[in-house]
Amino acid sequence: MYTTAMKIVDLVRWMHADFRQRLDKMERIAKEGGVGEAAKVAHELSLVLQSLQAHEWLEEEVLYPYLRTRVPGFDAKAPEESAVGHRALQGKVSELKEALAHPDATLTLLFAAEIFIAFLREHMAAEEKGILDSADKRLPEPVQEKLAADALKILKEAGLPEEFLPR
Ligand SMILES: [Fe+2]
Ligand SMILES: [Fe+2]
Repeated sequence: MYTTAMKIVDLVRWMHADFRQRLDKMERIAKEGGVGEAAKVAHELSLVLQSLQAHEWLEEEVLYPYLRTRVPGFDAKAPEESAVGHRALQGKVSELKEALAHPDATLTLLFAAEIFIAFLREHMAAEEKGILDSADKRLPEPVQEKLAADALKILKEAGLPEEFLPR
């Protein structure tokens, strides 16, 4: 568990980097093992989905409300675009869950995973260039550290495994 101060923007970026590593791993397994490795892909996927839910909470319930209500003149479009991305991502997640529920339909799963991975990568890149960079410039460091510390405490208490959070 992270014990010293970390900014909320860096926490979001840390989680993005963690997702990228997990997505890379999933892609490697799918590419090298093909259909035979669908169970391993499904396992990696379940880890990503667990962390993704926490991540979207962090963005939509912690960071964006603060930006909207406490940072005068913050471009309201940026959090809106990110939230729209989350809704679309949920659609991909539903397709994935459906594929996961039919373990014999391995090709369907691998195909749905590929679409999900590409979508999540694009979503994270857009957030980094858009909302995260501007939030980092607009939010004072102590505010960012307080938001991150409070969020980490809540996530830990909610039972998010420590492997999904920075140490
Ligand atoms: Fe997001
Ligand atoms: Fe994100």
